[in-house]
Amino acid sequence: MSTASVTLNGKVYELPVVRGVENDIAIDITKLLSESGAITLDPGFNSTGACQSGVTYIDGGKGILRYRGYPIEQLAEKSDFVETAWLLLYGELPNAEQLKQFRGQLTYHSMIHEDMKKFFEGFPPSAHPMAILSAMVSSLSTYYPGSEDDQSDANIVRLLAKVRTIAAYAFKKSIGQPTIYPRNDLSYCANFLHMMFAVPTEAYAVNPVLVKALNMLLILHADHEQNCSTSTVRIVASSRANIFASISAGISALWGPLHGGANQAVLEMLQTIHDDGGDYRKYVAMAKDKNSGFRLMGFGHRVYKNFDPRATILRKMAGEVLNELGVDDPLLEIASNLEKIALEDDYFVQRKLYPNVDFYSGILYRAMGIPTNMFTVMFALGRLPGWLAHWREQQSDESSRIYRPRQVYTGATERNYVPLADR
Ligand code: ACO
Repeated sequence: MSTASVTLNGKVYELPVVRGVENDIAIDITKLLSESGAITLDPGFNSTGACQSGVTYIDGGKGILRYRGYPIEQLAEKSDFVETAWLLLYGELPNAEQLKQFRGQLTYHSMIHEDMKKFFEGFPPSAHPMAILSAMVSSLSTYYPGSEDDQSDANIVRLLAKVRTIAAYAFKKSIGQPTIYPRNDLSYCANFLHMMFAVPTEAYAVNPVLVKALNMLLILHADHEQNCSTSTVRIVASSRANIFASISAGISALWGPLHGGANQAVLEMLQTIHDDGGDYRKYVAMAKDKNSGFRLMGFGHRVYKNFDPRATILRKMAGEVLNELGVDDPLLEIASNLEKIALEDDYFVQRKLYPNVDFYSGILYRAMGIPTNMFTVMFALGRLPGWLAHWREQQSDESSRIYRPRQVYTGATERNYVPLADR
């Protein structure tokens, strides 16, 4: 086994080197603290691996993304979301019987307890659907309190089936419409669209173009190894909190505009540019000015420093879907102008800032009739199998320990309490 050495105060510490199957190299510092008294410092975990994982492989430099070894391009083109979810969860593509059963279970469990519907009544109409989603998912634990040991696969199915229903109900709540029950004759994605857009007063036929687009969007978001929300799920799960609490925490982490909230932020940014007369160059200049506090939403990625393969697939699909739906969206034109100018600009080129998946997903969701404040919910729906696959992996890893990072203390050194009268 090869080692790496660290010299500290003249003493050399030999640290084991771990190699992944794709030749990723990691220095195992597990024993560094006990042997040397020192910790490592890596804010934002840029150079820190928190676990060994067999779910997803990313090579950010080469723009490679694979779920369980399968390239994202092949899955996006040939698979559907339910099959990809199974693949992420169980490591292999399902056979025909397994897939049939899994689809059946997701259909069978799609309703939520009738009492839970009352929860929706308690939220104000202006509630952000992400807040509703995380609260409702956490609440599921009150209905399914059984031990994870015997319940974990059942709870995984419940979550995949019910989060879709909760997401659609959150939307209906936000627009003041009655909730629509799922239909057992519809596929996973078609059922979601039905619950989102059907109304009791007229027939609603699900558009197959939308079903195809939704499957692809959800597949592209389904996992992304140790990103902020997945790490959050793993951190919460490491304390042995239940699966619903862990996933609810992941939903909250995803909400932020630097993560899953970026797709909403992209659309808001494009709308602002449009309403401001469409001068996208002004906004590129602002993004380059550090004092402006403005960033081009949908640009840049912690891992991809060449291109985001999901963005490449989505850019192509956005054009096709908008064409098929006959949507002529002025925001799409602003988006392609922004992309063009930023890709040629030294500031963005030097920092390797390219459009990420969220740059295009918002445009597609908008064309599909999904409102802006639901975009991050759509991301959560897509990312759910990834969170669950990591949760499963962590639970089955007997060597996994509670996450407990260290710190370098920079506060006040010891001092004596001063009574109020003397301050
Ligand atoms: N617009 C303008 N400048 C940017 C942008 C941007 N979108 N992103 C990064 N930069 C600049 C930074 O100011 C910094 O410049 P400096 O070196 O001169 O100080 C440099 O590029 C590196 O940026 P960091 O913030 O250090 O990169 P980090 O890896 O920490 O952040 C992140 C990655 C959060 C994605 C960032 O690029 C960003 O804020 N992008 C916009 C939000 C976004 O689209 N998020 C979605 C991410 S994808 C996802 O979650 C699915």
